[in-house]
Amino acid sequence: MPASPDWFEPARFGLFVHFGLYSLAARHEWVRSREAIPDAEYDRYLERFDPDQFDAPALAKAARAAGMRYAVLTAKHHDGFCLFGSKLTDYHSVRVTGRDLVAEFADAMRAEGIRVGLYYSLLDWHHPDFEIDRYHPLHADTAALGKPRDMARYREFLRGQVTELLTEYGDIDLLFFDFTYPAKGPEDWGAEELLALVRELRPGILVNDRLGIPGDYVTPEQYQPDRPLERDGVPVRWEACHTLNGSWGYDRDNHEYKDPALLVRMLVQSVSCGGNLLLNVGPTGRGALDPRARETLAAIAGWMHLHERSVHNAGPAKCTPPSNVLYTQAGDRLYVHLLSWPLKHLHLPGLAGRVRYAQLLHDGSEVRFHQLDGENHEHNNLAPPSQDAGTLTLTLPIIAPDVLLPVLELFLEADA
Ligand code: GLC
Repeated sequence: MPASPDWFEPARFGLFVHFGLYSLAARHEWVRSREAIPDAEYDRYLERFDPDQFDAPALAKAARAAGMRYAVLTAKHHDGFCLFGSKLTDYHSVRVTGRDLVAEFADAMRAEGIRVGLYYSLLDWHHPDFEIDRYHPLHADTAALGKPRDMARYREFLRGQVTELLTEYGDIDLLFFDFTYPAKGPEDWGAEELLALVRELRPGILVNDRLGIPGDYVTPEQYQPDRPLERDGVPVRWEACHTLNGSWGYDRDNHEYKDPALLVRMLVQSVSCGGNLLLNVGPTGRGALDPRARETLAAIAGWMHLHERSVHNAGPAKCTPPSNVLYTQAGDRLYVHLLSWPLKHLHLPGLAGRVRYAQLLHDGSEVRFHQLDGENHEHNNLAPPSQDAGTLTLTLPIIAPDVLLPVLELFLEADA
């Protein structure tokens, strides 16, 4: 599959995987910074790193079943530990376990037809030339602060590692750089040159916006846009990234898991606003998905199995939904997602005369409808007409279908 940005929006749904030494600490991927852990102490995770349960083919199957069409793995996170056999450092998984997890991941995803993305941290708390700032675990270590550091050398290292990732792991479709903040920005990363290098090595690859210069898409993090995103009035490609429980890396004692129904609503809301959703899992210290993550993906898979038509290849609708409804559209199909189940009738303004057929998507059962003409059709003739002319009224069963988010599929007239 050659890199081409055209796959991204039809894909709509991706899997983010945060895995590294911090997964053993099991208390957030920023643990090294938050607890200001010195190198030697952090090494206790290196010494015990044994991802015997990291099963990339199983992960790829779970992602595929959940309807995810691309996946992004942390090739290196802020702690500097690499999941690939870099020749530019010995701080990597191949040296300690003999396993190149980036290669395993890329092969497994491709085998399932899933596009391969890599996350690469611009920060590096292990590299001796990465300048200490307030996020750095050694920010209060006077001995460390006294040593000279050379960001120009660090920039060479960045270029070298990015070259390794883009030349030794087959077709990489997406790069997720992370991140730019007040203390460090594009000049520190050599962002322009780095981006040019990426484009030279992999024309057509998609690069996010966290180098601090515009990339190919923007990455709202842990918040859900409720309208299409624009820059200077021009629509931009976007992807919301979300955690299952507020932490990207495995966080054993954090049980704030989002409900699968909420996650499905977030996915559909993204699609309805022209965006994607990148949903994260943080495998355990041994590399396995914990039961909550597995159950969540399985629940989403159940919904996607019956409803993927309203997500893949779909985008924002041309018409505006009433409250408690999210629309997505793919060609002449309008998908009506019901955030709350109404009593018997669903009124859709402006759709009268524009719909040929309607069905519930999960079971393909016909939904009958009629169009109101503004006259009074209520049983109580004294009551004023409750719907405007042009409203399409569908008749729904009393009992909502037993799915995470009910969807109606409306077949629109060709010219609608
Ligand atoms: C933030 C965090 C990081 C996480 C990333 C995911 O930038 O620093 O830990 O990997 O978001 O988007």
